[in-house]
Amino acid sequence: MTIVTAAEAAYVVAALLFILSLAGLSQHRTSRSGVVWGIAGMVIALAATVGLASRSIPATGLVLIAVAMVLGAGIGLWRARVVEMTGMPELIAIMHSLVGLSAAFVGWNGYLDVDAGLTGSLLGIHHAEVFIGVFIGAVTFTGSVVAYLKLSARIDSRPLTLPGKHVLNVSALVAFVVLTVAFVARPGIGLLIAVTVIALALGAHLVASIGGGDMPVVVSMLNSYSGWAAAASGFLLANNLLIVTGALVGSSGAYLSYIMCKAMNRSFLSVIAGGFGSPAAVADGEQGEHREIDAEETAQLLHDASSVIITPGYGMAVAQAQYPVAELARRLRERGVEVRFGIHPVAGRLPGHMNVLLAEAHVPYDIVLEMDEINDDFPATSVVLVIGANDTVNPAAVDDPAGPIAGMPVLHVWEAANVVVFKRSMAVGYAGVQNPLFFRENTQMLFGDAKQRVEDILRALDALDTSVPEMAGTSR
Ligand code: TAP
Repeated sequence: MTIVTAAEAAYVVAALLFILSLAGLSQHRTSRSGVVWGIAGMVIALAATVGLASRSIPATGLVLIAVAMVLGAGIGLWRARVVEMTGMPELIAIMHSLVGLSAAFVGWNGYLDVDAGLTGSLLGIHHAEVFIGVFIGAVTFTGSVVAYLKLSARIDSRPLTLPGKHVLNVSALVAFVVLTVAFVARPGIGLLIAVTVIALALGAHLVASIGGGDMPVVVSMLNSYSGWAAAASGFLLANNLLIVTGALVGSSGAYLSYIMCKAMNRSFLSVIAGGFGSPAAVADGEQGEHREIDAEETAQLLHDASSVIITPGYGMAVAQAQYPVAELARRLRERGVEVRFGIHPVAGRLPGHMNVLLAEAHVPYDIVLEMDEINDDFPATSVVLVIGANDTVNPAAVDDPAGPIAGMPVLHVWEAANVVVFKRSMAVGYAGVQNPLFFRENTQMLFGDAKQRVEDILRALDALDTSVPEMAGTSR
């Protein structure tokens, strides 16, 4: 068996492992094995690619590849070890930017180093691949960098609204098509520089135009773009595995974006087009008086409750409050209170963020319900504990048709008898929109770090139990 046939066989095995990996990752229970399949596929893919390369490059080239792989793996392992769960989306965004950058470099390399054997229509196809690869790569690169800056709060997450922004986007796409035709007819470095600049500007503009609340969809869109960028590189490098892997990432990312758009009641096309029609006005003024509650009073409320729904959000992840929250749920259930969790599809900062935290704290799966499963139950609920959630429980999404989060499905917590909101201040959530929930008559604010406040409530429940032991579990 030659190196080429061995490598092609290894590529088929790696592609199958990537498909198994995606299948594993699609379910909570099988996600760990999904990661293992993915790692195995990538190790086989890298070994086969280096084996193929060893036929045509000198030993110094192989040493450079080995150094690059050790450096890359080292940086990757270090970042993965130190990253907080709350920092995952920005880590993913910056990784997408590297995929885009490498696709743009591969494209440029394809222009500078053309195979002498390519002539006629094959040469035309090669130049089209160069141009498309550079375009997709550069859009992905700057789009991901802007997403990284927004997600890590280094720049404002509000949408940029340049006058005539859609005209700018459409003009960039038209220019790309015209320049592609010109480049295939008469390749020149000027045209390649022009498309690179246009694509870099378009990527930055598309993502800058999208508001904070829509960022989850953007992250999965950029995931998809990075897949198409990799597939474009695969065509240029004549690497079948890169084409297959790029197509898998591109299509699964596009499908995830579609699911998230549906969950958030956003039009798929509008998100690709850079926040088409998203209102710029951000309602961030105070909206009346809020009422405060302390941990002891909250404990009393829970002591008297028959049903409790906990709706966690990003603040629970920041405070790492999932363990005392799980303990609170356990203690209330022991007392006969019906306790359930209501999970919004984009609560936190990454898909499934809250589910992962609650599973980590051993909250039983059967009391963790999706938004659609629990939204009708709030009117019959005694107490809702909103733990570090804000945008995902904002009634303005329903009540304010002109607001920035209008139409986004939210948890209808305000329909319960009592709502206690755990947060540190009156600050707005990720979308930068004020939350009228905080000023409703049945809402009380419990200020402070969520973990500390929940621990205070647990102590107060203990005190209640010891002071009136005969009433425990019978006061409802
Ligand atoms: P957010 O709207 O982000 O609000 C989180 C709240 O937690 C803040 O109001 C903050 O208020 C509070 N908080 C922060 N640290 C806290 C602490 N230590 N203790 C107590 N409270 C704390 O949360 P959400 O409802 O989960 O909504 C998620 C938002 O992120 C949505 O807009 C969503 O579109 C966006 N997003 C989601 C994703 C995915 S895929 N899930 C990805 C990117 C963006 P204080 O500062 O006053 O404490």
